[in-house]
Amino acid sequence: MPKSTPMIVYLNGQYLPEHEAKISVADRGFLFGDGIYEVIRVVRGILFMASEHLERLSESLSHVEIHPVTFGHQPGQPGQTNQSGQTNQPGQTNQLAPSEFHHYLFGVMEELIRLNNLQEGEAAIYIQITRGGVFPRTHHFPEEPVTPTIYLSASSFTPNTELHQTGTNAITFADQRWSQCHIKSVNLLPNVLAKQKAREAGVNNVVMIRNGLVTESANTNIFGVMDGVLYTHPDDETILSGVTRLAVFELADELGIEVRREAIREEELPKLEELFFTGTTTDLLPVVELDGNPVGEGIPGPVCRALQEAYYRKMQRECTGNLQKDYQSDLQSDLQTDPQGTLPGNDSFQSE
Ligand SMILES: Cc1ncc(COP(=O)(O)O)c(C=O)c1O
Repeated sequence: MPKSTPMIVYLNGQYLPEHEAKISVADRGFLFGDGIYEVIRVVRGILFMASEHLERLSESLSHVEIHPVTFGHQPGQPGQTNQSGQTNQPGQTNQLAPSEFHHYLFGVMEELIRLNNLQEGEAAIYIQITRGGVFPRTHHFPEEPVTPTIYLSASSFTPNTELHQTGTNAITFADQRWSQCHIKSVNLLPNVLAKQKAREAGVNNVVMIRNGLVTESANTNIFGVMDGVLYTHPDDETILSGVTRLAVFELADELGIEVRREAIREEELPKLEELFFTGTTTDLLPVVELDGNPVGEGIPGPVCRALQEAYYRKMQRECTGNLQKDYQSDLQSDLQTDPQGTLPGNDSFQSE
């Protein structure tokens, strides 16, 4: 496909070539990082573990009190009837239930896959929802109801299969993030700086340490193996609860691998038999060298290998057929498509 064909993105109810998609300079995502994001893998046009991603999206939105609406359904005022047929109470606007919102997003994602010709091979969907914005700029939420900004893109993606086989390297690095890492906020500056440090050190990523405990990397969860047992940081506010991590729990259970949701202590790192990263665009990536020293035998270990294979099988199994049919059937009428849309080629999503 010619490179010049633009990617089609979704912004606030419209499908547009990416260079035509514009947001306001008052947008609080731009001014404050006041927004939430998600990344979802697409295999042969099928969304992988999408319900889990959308569930997490809703949780993050609810933590920061962003109440999404679909376009054509602007936020209502107190006293107006909401979409559930009830009268809004003071302070309440016309919001969607999470299931309605997920349904709407499934429809948008399906349409982006179609418009961007991504029914074959692999792709990644990016979703970002911000609080929207109006002037004047205030730190507190705007007084008047503001429509959130909803942006989605879909671009082709090539997994780094070679790296998955050879394994990668990392350095330990202080976790300098805030204390609410379970929220998938677009505030990623500490993650950006950590990843840049890794790049400058000539390695792939960081193993972040907070209070002597391994938390996660700049953009993945972390698992380690000691005495054949799989360890990972427990779910709390110092890590993002990864969807790939959930899949690893399920697969470890199927394979009879014992999992302990206990953080690896920094001093235990030299004792690890295996270490690996997990993430939506990373899959399961063995770390074979940490701070210049081999991890275990310095090659991908059997626990990670077994889980990698099981993960690919799960992905292939769940991304066959037409699991999203239900969501495809009735794209909401308020979505405007670009029927003339020149079908796009697009930029590759970065594989880790
Ligand atoms: C900080 C952090 N931890 C973990 C993950 C992995 O999450 P998932 O497996 O849902 O992609 C990500 C993914 O973006 C991340 O940014």
